[in-house]
Amino acid sequence: MVHDLTIRNAIEGDEDDIYNIHTEAIKKKCSSHYGTEDVDVWVARQNKAKYLPSIAAREIVVAEKLGKVVGFGHLLDCKESDGKTMQIRGLFVDPDCGVKGVGSALMKEMEKRARDCSANCLIVQSALNAVEFYRKCGFITLELSTFQLSEQWYLQCYNMIKKL
Ligand SMILES: CC(C)(COP(=O)(O)OP(=O)(O)OC[C@H]1O[C@@H](n2cnc3c(N)ncnc32)[C@H](O)[C@@H]1OP(=O)(O)O)[C@@H](O)C(=O)NCCC(=O)NCCS
Repeated sequence: MVHDLTIRNAIEGDEDDIYNIHTEAIKKKCSSHYGTEDVDVWVARQNKAKYLPSIAAREIVVAEKLGKVVGFGHLLDCKESDGKTMQIRGLFVDPDCGVKGVGSALMKEMEKRARDCSANCLIVQSALNAVEFYRKCGFITLELSTFQLSEQWYLQCYNMIKKL
């Protein structure tokens, strides 16, 4: 049970917190399953301005605890689908927030939003370190895949799916 947790749409001005959470979660959590160079390239790829179009499109939700942003999720239409599938593009929780259940609360909200958009399926390219989390949320592991970080740099990940 997560007390005092508010889930809301991200707004302009949240990009600093989102960037900090994103990069700290990569450094402190994803580093358990990826090499130093992977982590460095992944972190270097992020910048605050890149979140703004997604914030404007209302694709990003944030979790707030006592006025502080402690996690975010990014949900969008899956371009290659029939309109019934939505994609989780990112889900990152402040590794130092000391609160359990933030990821689950964000997932619950994204599932609700996907259903509200008449989606019947959620997909994610899960970081290797997050597979167990997604399993606990009801996702099934499909195949090993890659996520492109740059022209030459790819990360291993797992394609996962959940029927809604
Ligand atoms: C993955 C992540 C979003 C989970 O958020 P969280 O707030 O820690 O998750 P919750 O506290 O809601 O955990 C829900 C359940 O999943 C479990 N869980 C969470 N992360 C886990 C992990 N890495 N391995 C195994 N189980 C995990 C929890 O123990 C909990 O289980 P329970 O219900 O039996 O108690 C967060 O750890 C994170 O930001 N990781 C780094 C970024 C990342 O990899 N994001 C995914 C990119 S695709």
